[in-house]
Amino acid sequence: MTTTFASDITGQRAAHLDADVSGQKHFDQLIADDSRVEPTDWMPEGYRKTLTRQVSQHAHSEIIGMQPEANWISRAPSLKRKAILIAKVQDEAGHGLYLYSAAETLGTDREELVEQLLSGKAKYSSIFNYPARTWADVGAIGWLVDGAAIANQVPLCRASYGPYARSMVRICKEESFHQRQGWEILYELANGTPEQKQMAQEAINRFYGPALQMFGPPDDESPNSRQSMAWNIKRFSNDELRQRFVDMIVPQAEALGLHFEDPDLKWNEERGHYDFGELDWSEFKSVVSGNGPCNEQRMKHRRQAHEEGAWVREAAAAYVRRQAEQSEPGALIA
Ligand SMILES: [Fe+2]
Ligand SMILES: [Fe+2]
Repeated sequence: MTTTFASDITGQRAAHLDADVSGQKHFDQLIADDSRVEPTDWMPEGYRKTLTRQVSQHAHSEIIGMQPEANWISRAPSLKRKAILIAKVQDEAGHGLYLYSAAETLGTDREELVEQLLSGKAKYSSIFNYPARTWADVGAIGWLVDGAAIANQVPLCRASYGPYARSMVRICKEESFHQRQGWEILYELANGTPEQKQMAQEAINRFYGPALQMFGPPDDESPNSRQSMAWNIKRFSNDELRQRFVDMIVPQAEALGLHFEDPDLKWNEERGHYDFGELDWSEFKSVVSGNGPCNEQRMKHRRQAHEEGAWVREAAAAYVRRQAEQSEPGALIA
């Protein structure tokens, strides 16, 4: 008996091993062909883990990112601005939903992902720990923060994991509108009274550094990037994306009649790119590790919103249960 049992187990292990080997082969081929990996495909544990972390952190960032601007909905300077801002903040909630759904296809359910955020185990983009102090900050967030998000996310439309890549296509279209509305807020202020222009300049002074840090640490301090690039999740390195972003925003700032307060920022003829100054990475590390101006407030607000939304989740679950009961044969007759 024992021998049969043991050989059964060995047989099962061998079968699993075979499946892993052929799964790995199939996966490697998909990556080599630059094809999409779908939820039903076999994938290495590391790939699944990396993506679960990246996609869920992205979802958390969209949801937490609603806060700095939502603060301004009731104070937007006109009905038109209020309507635009409401639409933008709602878009961010939608982005969170697509991304939680994409993350769930990797095998971790949303409740657990949200719990990781609420317990502080999961991170979100550090930029949302900065406050929006003035109306011009809402413009700077749209132009620079959503702008950096686009620069990061357009290449993700070609990420190897199908559900993530597809969610990015729609998200990027909406981000373009966000960036445009931010730029337009600043354009109006920059062409307004001297005080308004000053307010716009101060806002971009505040957001320039943190927006450039959104691309993550310099390449030589970003050890996971190489693996993500080998898996076709990431297409460009942090520094490449940051450079691309700087090259894009400098002429846009000139068109606004504003400037970035970076003494090292200048066109480099030889490289064909703008040079720019060293960023304050100690500040970045401090904000990431919880000491930014709004970390505590953001998490407190999110926990409270989660608790206040409990009845919505219960009602939705009860509705689904009832639908399922009613669709069982004979349920309506009974
Ligand atoms: Fe978004
Ligand atoms: Fe956005």
